[in-house]
Amino acid sequence: MIITDEQKTKLIKNNLVYMENIRVKFGRVVALDGVDFTVGYNEVVGLLGDNGAGKTTLIKALNGYNQISSGNIYFDGRHADFSSPKDARSAGIETAYQDLALVNIMSIARNFFMGRELRKGFAFFKFLDKRQMNKIASRSLKEVGLKNIRAMHETVNFLSGGERQAIAIGRANYFGAKLLILDEPTAALSVTETEWVLQLVKEAKEGGLSVILISHNAYEVYDVSDRFVVLQHGKTYANIKKEDTNPEELIEVIAGRLEK
Ligand SMILES: Nc1ncnc2c1ncn2[C@@H]1O[C@H](COP(=O)(O)OP(=O)(O)OP(=O)(O)O)[C@@H](O)[C@H]1O
Ligand SMILES: [Mg+2]
Repeated sequence: MIITDEQKTKLIKNNLVYMENIRVKFGRVVALDGVDFTVGYNEVVGLLGDNGAGKTTLIKALNGYNQISSGNIYFDGRHADFSSPKDARSAGIETAYQDLALVNIMSIARNFFMGRELRKGFAFFKFLDKRQMNKIASRSLKEVGLKNIRAMHETVNFLSGGERQAIAIGRANYFGAKLLILDEPTAALSVTETEWVLQLVKEAKEGGLSVILISHNAYEVYDVSDRFVVLQHGKTYANIKKEDTNPEELIEVIAGRLEK
């Protein structure tokens, strides 16, 4: 889509995320081939597409995990050139990865604070403030409904998929993120856990956050999303407001049998 400079300035201002003409290559594989993507303020965008469509690559381009070979990214009105997910996190982007990048051998509290650990003491005598971290993590995780965990110093090995997602969402709430990215959050969850995670997405939106919700399943994410972006073979295939579609139609679009 060709737009004027004036239109572009407006789009950057009115959206939390504005990505234009994004290309990402892995060797000779072109994973993203000129993708445009936006997320509004306080908007939930369902990012859909078949296996290998480029969904994960797109959000990893946004949060600095993947380097882009061309294109532009703006976040919250500013040109964003994050060189790592840690950079993106300090700017307000909290990501829960598809492979649930929690560090299994670390405690729940350490995973909650990952990269933002609290310390006490001074100068060369700084120690991790484990007690305070346990307290804060425990309180924040209770708020997102994580009730059954025994202790914050336990490692995350034993947590279920839903509980792992809840840690990411609790972290976003506590650290005041502006954007929460959930990559296939319900892929391995039971029905009850799926409902819980989707409810947390609703609450995140009510709390003022924007959310990118990646999924294969149009039925699952339809309710909580405001808009859908469908990727196909590394390109933007459709961009549809919720009121202009329904889950049955979205399935056809994802499969490439219907153009919208
Ligand atoms: N690190 C990598 N090295 C090489 N190719 C990669 C790498 N990461 C992704 N790709 C390729 O880029 C394309 C897009 O992959 P991506 O993981 O973004 O798809 P996806 O839409 O998230 O799929 P899924 O629904 O299976 O998670 C695929 O062809 C994939 O094989
Ligand atoms: Mg993926």
